[in-house]
Amino acid sequence: MISAVVFVQVSHKVTARDNPALEYYKRVYQEHPGFAMPEHYMEVPTWIPVVSGKLPGYVKAFHVMTDLLETVVTLMQYKHENTVFMASVMDVNAEVIRKLVHLSASKRWVLSGYVDPGMFKQYENVTWVNSVAELGEVFDYFKPLGTPDYSLFEGEKTVPRITLSEGCKYDCAFCTISRQVVERSDNDILGQVNALRDLWFDLVYVDDKTFGQAKNWPLLKVLGTHIKSYNPYFKGFVVQTTVPMALKHAEEWANSCHVRYIEVGVEHVDAEYLHRMKKPYNVNQLAALMHHLEDVNVGFIPNIMFALPGAEYTPTLTWLKRWRHLISFINPFILCQYGQSKGALVADAIGAHDQDENSLVKSWLNPAQQAYAQEVWDEALAITGS
Ligand SMILES: C[S@@+](CC[C@H](N)C(=O)[O-])C[C@H]1O[C@@H](n2cnc3c(N)ncnc32)[C@H](O)[C@@H]1O
Ligand code: SF4
Repeated sequence: MISAVVFVQVSHKVTARDNPALEYYKRVYQEHPGFAMPEHYMEVPTWIPVVSGKLPGYVKAFHVMTDLLETVVTLMQYKHENTVFMASVMDVNAEVIRKLVHLSASKRWVLSGYVDPGMFKQYENVTWVNSVAELGEVFDYFKPLGTPDYSLFEGEKTVPRITLSEGCKYDCAFCTISRQVVERSDNDILGQVNALRDLWFDLVYVDDKTFGQAKNWPLLKVLGTHIKSYNPYFKGFVVQTTVPMALKHAEEWANSCHVRYIEVGVEHVDAEYLHRMKKPYNVNQLAALMHHLEDVNVGFIPNIMFALPGAEYTPTLTWLKRWRHLISFINPFILCQYGQSKGALVADAIGAHDQDENSLVKSWLNPAQQAYAQEVWDEALAITGS
């Protein structure tokens, strides 16, 4: 019978060693109080508090892998045969987790994630689960409605996430988010908010993909007041949304919903390219939003996308310079083409780095275009990072 669970997280020092945005984020976070980046991950790996909260009766421990062999040795010290080890597998960490499982054949692993589970088929010590709900078949004491348990992360400064709804009804060609917008129940949301009590945070990130689409967004009013009642340092929420939605609601969100920052998918300021990407906004709406934001007390964080095939970036760079005074910082994204994208910007994405969010090497860019992508990347980060 299982009695203890060790959560294993691969540090981004292993998976994103070459992350070209890391230094940028470190710099701009210092200038924007409340933003924080723990040492080994951009933010708390949400799967751990979520799973932890549904396994209330078990002894739990947390291990961060910064070196494969060191981890193998450390895990050997958990000698009790009733201990299971859990990890969340993604493209970027799949191979190192496979090696870890291979080198710790005497340990029992429970894995889940976003890769083909076939890669672990040969390992008898691995149980693959397709969803959190399936953990009920592995653990005798499983509480399906258990709220997140952050106790393994106490004392770590972070920007935790809450979710009011999932999905986004739009169709952006590169995006993989489900088109179905599903609201979480009020009880679920309150549970998420209460679970943050023991964490060290000033800002809370609202994970809704296009905030404002689901009808329950006004809940932020009471949730913000509630968080303030137990955390006097709470500064407010960060929400992500589209240009038209921000234009419609920015003022109200800033004034009465405790919204401190708005992230918006600007991507590339080019009317034709926006059409090609099926972005749900046009350049006139973007201009209107920027003029509107001159009068709204809210931080503005545009998402900008690099390495787009055939894109000319002068208008985007000019736009960044023009509105620098309103831009807190940018979220720089490098285009990745995933099989499950809603459309395709690229016909054949078969390059080794086409799904690597840290690499400007893409099969759709020739060497000159790649050099241009790097140049534009550097310039955008220089414009907005000082
Ligand atoms: C959830 S969306 C942002 C907010 C809002 N829904 C919007 O699009 O205006 C998050 C961001 O992730 C980035 N993104 C999504 N899919 C991507 C992909 N395949 N490659 C690179 N960046 C991507 C885009 O910059 C996008 O704005
Ligand atoms: S990029 Fe944003 S607006 Fe477009 S489909 Fe994805 S979540 Fe929706």
